Amino acid sequence: MEAIQYSRPKLYEAQRKFVDCEARYTIVEASTKAGKTVACLVWLFEMAIKGKRGQHFWWIAPIFPQAHIAYERLKKWLNDSGLGREVWRANETKQQIEIGGRYIDFKGADDPDSLYGEDVQAAVVDEASRCKETAWHALRSTLTATKGPVKIIGNVRGRKNWAYQLARKAESGERDMAYFKLTAQDAVDGGIFSQAEIEDAKRMLPAGVFQELYLAEPSDDGGNPFGLKAINACRIDKQSIAPPVCYGIDLAKSVDWTWMIGLDRDGVECASNRWKSDWGQTRTRIIDDTGSVPTLVDSTGVGDPIVEDLCRAKMSIQGFKFSSNSKQQLMEGLAAAIQQGRVRFADELLINELETFEYEFTGRGVKYSAPEGLHDDGVCALGLAVRQMEEPKYAMDLNFSGMLAKAK
Ligand SMILES: Nc1ncnc2c1ncn2[C@@H]1O[C@H](COP(=O)(O)OP(=O)(O)OP(=O)(O)O)[C@@H](O)[C@H]1O
Ligand SMILES: [Mg+2]
Repeated sequence: MEAIQYSRPKLYEAQRKFVDCEARYTIVEASTKAGKTVACLVWLFEMAIKGKRGQHFWWIAPIFPQAHIAYERLKKWLNDSGLGREVWRANETKQQIEIGGRYIDFKGADDPDSLYGEDVQAAVVDEASRCKETAWHALRSTLTATKGPVKIIGNVRGRKNWAYQLARKAESGERDMAYFKLTAQDAVDGGIFSQAEIEDAKRMLPAGVFQELYLAEPSDDGGNPFGLKAINACRIDKQSIAPPVCYGIDLAKSVDWTWMIGLDRDGVECASNRWKSDWGQTRTRIIDDTGSVPTLVDSTGVGDPIVEDLCRAKMSIQGFKFSSNSKQQLMEGLAAAIQQGRVRFADELLINELETFEYEFTGRGVKYSAPEGLHDDGVCALGLAVRQMEEPKYAMDLNFSGMLAKAK
């Protein structure tokens, strides 16, 4: 290539160590926001400009839209760097950046078939613990002919994934492999993260989630935010026969179940009912079954009018709208209640849902949900019931309406 003027953006020391590592397989287990994506974009770019015309360099993320984020970041960086358009250009359709005849392709591991074929000179697998193993196999085969190096980076996410296994091999000193760990403390020392932010995350997040996301240490719960031991400790043989002090209800969307969970004054499950029926029957059943017990109902998906209708019919019923933020708060409240033993349950189906529930780190925050193909209606209903039990705001509204009723 015609010589291009390039000065590397400033990387902090721990970043430089794995960027400059020449092992064929570099595996980095890292804290969130520690600068792994930026560092590896720098590396892949440098590999490309050191390469030859016609060669390909790949960036792989768990899904295509995530690869798009990295693509946009590199584009923005190139724009800001002042490198002229005669040196580089972007192909939006292919999600590809061409630099002097070398190609950096941004791909999603959700389509492993798209990862076969070309000879690849160097590659990055971002968020590796969330990439399909088949994608890694495909990438590995495209690197065979070229003997190209690869950097495999990501957050730690339980132990049951290929990235974790590979990291253990690298850590044990296997040939051609190098292992690095990048914690939130490294990022603080590198000046891109504040100590206060770590402390805040520690306070807010379930323990296992914090351990994985900030300390880069796997949790035995394999991505379960409640903790499998804690769930087990809250398990009881039989429902309570005491009266409920609150209900949480997850309304059926189009195909699934409406689930209603009641807790007694000690936080012990005293009702857990699920059913499928049309809206009219569901409405009647909710109104009849909840009596005057304070009830929190998920108003997402079915639309506000239905929940508004319920709230109009009963002062004791309130709606709760799920957004990614409010769901996160609800689930973190439920996780705290489970870990501190403030709630107990007997329903096996509910316990199954709690055990398979997962958190996912999306880059924008922590997202809580059931794995693909499974449900979390019971978990949501329980979260709502716990919220209703513990959140004085809702109780206050009810007392007020109770007083009004008495005054009449
Ligand atoms: N060496 C650096 N100097 C200054 N800022 C940096 C540096 N490295 C990363 N950053 C900034 O820190 C933030 C996090 O970086 P980056 O997205 O690369 O981290 P990450 O570990 O990939 O995070 P995530 O967990 O979201 O995937 C970004 O805003 C990035 O611009
Ligand atoms: Mg990243």
